[in-house]
Amino acid sequence: MIDQAAPRIVVLPETVADQIAAGEVVERPAAVVKELVENALDAGARTVRVELEDGGRALIRVSDDGAGMGREDARLALARHATSKIREAADLIGVATFGFRGEALPAIASVSRLELETSADGRVATRLRVVGGRLEGVEDAARQRGTTVTVRGVFFNTPARRKFLRAAASETRAAVEAVTVLALARPDVAFSLTSDGRTLLDVAPAARGIDRAAALWSRELAETLLPVTYREGPLEVTGLCQRPAQAKPAGRKAYVFVRGRPVRDPFLLRAAEAGYRSAIHPDDRPSLILFLELPGDAVDVNVHPAKHEVRFRERFFVERVVTDAVRAALAPLEAAAPIGAGPGAPGGPGPWAGVGADLPAGVPGELLPAAAAAAEPRAPALLQVFDTYLLFATDDAVAIVDQHSAHERVLYETVMRQLTGDGAPGQRLLLPFTLDFTTPELEAIEAFRELLARVGYEVEPLSGRTVAVTMAPNPHPRFDAARCLQELVADLAGGRFGGWANRLERFAATFACRAAIKAGHALEPAEMRELVTRLLSATLPAHDVHGRPTVVQLPREELERRFGRR
Ligand SMILES: Nc1ncnc2c1ncn2[C@@H]1O[C@H](COP(=O)(O)OP(=O)(O)O)[C@@H](O)[C@H]1O
Ligand SMILES: [Mg+2]
Repeated sequence: MIDQAAPRIVVLPETVADQIAAGEVVERPAAVVKELVENALDAGARTVRVELEDGGRALIRVSDDGAGMGREDARLALARHATSKIREAADLIGVATFGFRGEALPAIASVSRLELETSADGRVATRLRVVGGRLEGVEDAARQRGTTVTVRGVFFNTPARRKFLRAAASETRAAVEAVTVLALARPDVAFSLTSDGRTLLDVAPAARGIDRAAALWSRELAETLLPVTYREGPLEVTGLCQRPAQAKPAGRKAYVFVRGRPVRDPFLLRAAEAGYRSAIHPDDRPSLILFLELPGDAVDVNVHPAKHEVRFRERFFVERVVTDAVRAALAPLEAAAPIGAGPGAPGGPGPWAGVGADLPAGVPGELLPAAAAAAEPRAPALLQVFDTYLLFATDDAVAIVDQHSAHERVLYETVMRQLTGDGAPGQRLLLPFTLDFTTPELEAIEAFRELLARVGYEVEPLSGRTVAVTMAPNPHPRFDAARCLQELVADLAGGRFGGWANRLERFAATFACRAAIKAGHALEPAEMRELVTRLLSATLPAHDVHGRPTVVQLPREELERRFGRR
């Protein structure tokens, strides 16, 4: 017998299809906020206002002063796959707007009571009312140019999803975050967000990205950020990265934008963090706000409906340049924290490209910046104070160097070269000395024997826990070879420096820390000069290997301010 059952496959009605699509595009109120604000920005808004009630569950309203829509366009905007932003598949390459799928408005409308008020000229205005995807009314309205979308009772007709909404506070926080991201992307646009009448975010147009960061968070945080301006080939990286000494293990801000769009790409963040290697404590996470600009055909944004992921044609190259860009931002002596004065970088043409206008742009493959060379100390104006700090003047600041941290940085870079190159012969000791170690320390000596030899230590087991040291390095005249070895071996055996990913780097940092000249030693003028000269030719002169500064700067401006000269 032939089964005569009716066909079981049906094409879903449009509204059901929209509701399903809504699950991908707008999984929570914050996603509605994101889509509506992106539409406002795509429409060229200069001002975007967001209002929430009950975490967006009762009401989400986004108003803009953008291009608005005529009546026919307004109707079409609510139809699926209706967009004004692309016409054909080829337009997807290099698409510059946030949206382009024509999915958001119909998806939102299908799961809410939506009202759209819009005017393209400030004379004729239209109000559309849609309930659960069904158009309920089209009326004349009165308003200025721009668009207001009001979304009430989101997910009222999809109870399963409504049930999964989180507490109002959590939804509000997510909405603020969604607006924050877009406010970073567009410092030139004013944004505000109120929740149950309380203003949670309110930022005026800013000429510089760092001012936008200050307005969104705080001036204090902005002052810890250094400008990034770097270009290699087709890729330009701009933005802000935090000074190593001011990074903390928790609570950092991390945002990456590719061609102006926010992306969630842990690999790009990791590449940026790699730029901090040897200059930051391994547990600290620096704040990073980075903008990658590259030609549209080098990147595919059409990967995920929420459009967070990107596919680079040459990901390896992109990650490497991001690392170099951050490294170059940390390289100048000016990367040292200033005393008193706020961020002084003047504005430039683009809000993010401009932040570092006074700093040398990154030169591919060459990290020693011109600025460091320009800051050569003018001998003999070097002064040691408290047997610990060295003072000298640069063109526009008094630099104060911590002799231990500075020497640590210098030694670290030297030792890394020795460890990866030929090594440095130590001095054969006329009178070898002996030292006693614990069992774990003896194991550490065995494990690091080769590296110890490369920095100049030759250690022979004698008997039991005693070893003989027959050769030792001599990094400076006050060097105590026995004490340094004891401390070094104790560090290597214990967990200190354990967070360092790379064994060579860990060893070099430990050695540098223990071998460096200590605080409290009076230095000869020639020693001071040599230390500062070597510091200034280091790749990362302003940061020691623990994430502390080697230099602080007292800007001339600050002196002038304090003495009433300006
Ligand atoms: N705030 C707005 N101002 C002007 N036009 C808008 C606005 N919001 C939406 N539109 C129009 O509606 C269309 C559909 O919006 P949407 O569903 O978000 O799709 P997409 O943004 O992917 O094009 C947009 O292409 C745009 O032409
Ligand atoms: Mg859109």
